[in-house]
Amino acid sequence: AVERTLSIIKPDAVAKNVIGEIQSRFEKAGLQIVAAKMIKLDDEKAGGFYAEHSERGFFKDLVGFMTSGPVVVQVLEGEGAIAKNRDLMGATNPKEAAPGTIRADFAESIDANAAHGSDSAESAAREIAYFFAADEICSR
Ligand code: CMP
Repeated sequence: AVERTLSIIKPDAVAKNVIGEIQSRFEKAGLQIVAAKMIKLDDEKAGGFYAEHSERGFFKDLVGFMTSGPVVVQVLEGEGAIAKNRDLMGATNPKEAAPGTIRADFAESIDANAAHGSDSAESAAREIAYFFAADEICSR
């Protein structure tokens, strides 16, 4: 089925100047970028996005990292977009990510792991609505 998923290019990848290289991987895999913006998250916006992790030991570092520089938030659309995006990213921990994946090629650590992608249809719906109004998404 055609799905939408939320993708974030994290501050480490923006700082490395590989926004376009990462977007190109999505496009080459048949996903379309149907919404995109660059923003600097603050503690409230980043903490709210990752609220499900608020009790985890890594939460403070995660929010600190995600507010350390601008991010690109985008909506990817296409056949099986949620799983496709996660396959392209590779494992959360770049040390475990398969060769040729975004995290293997561009990421340094489990926090500075280059990209985020929704993990389910429910997460995708919530995460897309967290960053984008319906009229900011342009299906083609
Ligand atoms: P992301 O897909 O953005 O979702 C939550 C993020 O928390 C994850 O990527 C990692 O960058 C970060 N993180 C840090 N430590 C852990 C951990 N032990 N398990 C899962 N995610 C972690």
